[in-house]
Amino acid sequence: MSPTRGTEATVAARSAVARRWRAVDPLLPEPTEPARTCGADLTVTSADGQLVAAGVCRHAHLKPGSLELAWGAAHQFALTPWVAGPDVGAGLGLLLERWRTHLVRQQAADDEDSEAMVRWPSRDVDGVPALLEHGLRPLTVIAARPAGRAIDASNPPGLSIRPAAESDLDALERLGMEMMRYDAHFGSVVVRPDTARALRESARRMLGAAPPWIWLAERDGEAVGMVHADPPEASGWIAPLVRAQPAAYLGEMSVLAGARGDGVGAALVHHLHRELDAAGAAVTLLHHAQLNPLSAPFWNRMGYRPLWTSWEVRPADRVS
Ligand SMILES: CC(C)(COP(=O)(O)OP(=O)(O)OC[C@H]1O[C@@H](n2cnc3c(N)ncnc32)[C@H](O)[C@@H]1OP(=O)(O)O)[C@@H](O)C(=O)NCCC(=O)NCCS
Repeated sequence: MSPTRGTEATVAARSAVARRWRAVDPLLPEPTEPARTCGADLTVTSADGQLVAAGVCRHAHLKPGSLELAWGAAHQFALTPWVAGPDVGAGLGLLLERWRTHLVRQQAADDEDSEAMVRWPSRDVDGVPALLEHGLRPLTVIAARPAGRAIDASNPPGLSIRPAAESDLDALERLGMEMMRYDAHFGSVVVRPDTARALRESARRMLGAAPPWIWLAERDGEAVGMVHADPPEASGWIAPLVRAQPAAYLGEMSVLAGARGDGVGAALVHHLHRELDAAGAAVTLLHHAQLNPLSAPFWNRMGYRPLWTSWEVRPADRVS
């Protein structure tokens, strides 16, 4: 089954998924298929021939040196699941078994630097037991903040916020590396030998945008925090994951360890939200590590809540 094409049965199953998603979370989009898939047949039918679940798998092998290698494994196998129900847990369990049979035949799925990933709607809790039973761990969340959700924040004394410039590349690299090193505790981020160089290159590219969407928080002439976002016109790559449009994406946020807990982060986010609201973003998305004890509650206070949860296991053939 592909929910975007297929037989009468697949169209009915797709409608069932769409109905359930609308009921569990009004911010979920209509179910669609990723642009590139490996083509494996991952359909599951019941004993009486009814289609209960289907999925597509996408394989990605990242280029050495790319910044994406800091956010995930070198060899990635991602399942997009559609489970019609009514027994969502059972349907998802059967689909994960089918996927596992597919994965163990793939080259690189046993590589230490590989991962299997399933993005599942955070509020579709009926699928959670099956994901846990199959050895997957909820590592990363895509959280959403509908426009206009106010937060209470003013600049702490002595703090100023300004757009970043080319001369700030050292500070941006340092702040980016602090964020990576902290997030590396939580299972998804891997700091690699060339991560600092890749971060610097990425910051240079962001500064080349017109206008750049990176701001620095400064105190006594020192950069103590940064935030970067993709405005709606640059967020097309993630916008299909949310119903509200246009969507923006908050890509990086970091405050130096010695400056945390003093309102720097809230002031930066408050500043960014004003820019995003003015740019017409209906919703802002971001990724954060589920287990990050600083960022998870911080984003909730800033008006974000879970939309999708990324369930992962490394190496990829460890899906059980
Ligand atoms: C997440 C992060 C960006 C938050 O930045 P921050 O500057 O510490 O955030 P704030 O100070 O605005 O808010 C955090 C805490 O300070 C408190 N706070 C806010 N304003 C304050 C003020 N004026 N005075 C004292 N405390 C304040 C908040 O209540 C909160 O406290 P709590 O978590 O103990 O309840 C920062 O912790 C960080 O860089 N973490 C490591 C990297 C990371 O996780 N990045 C995010 C990746 S998604």
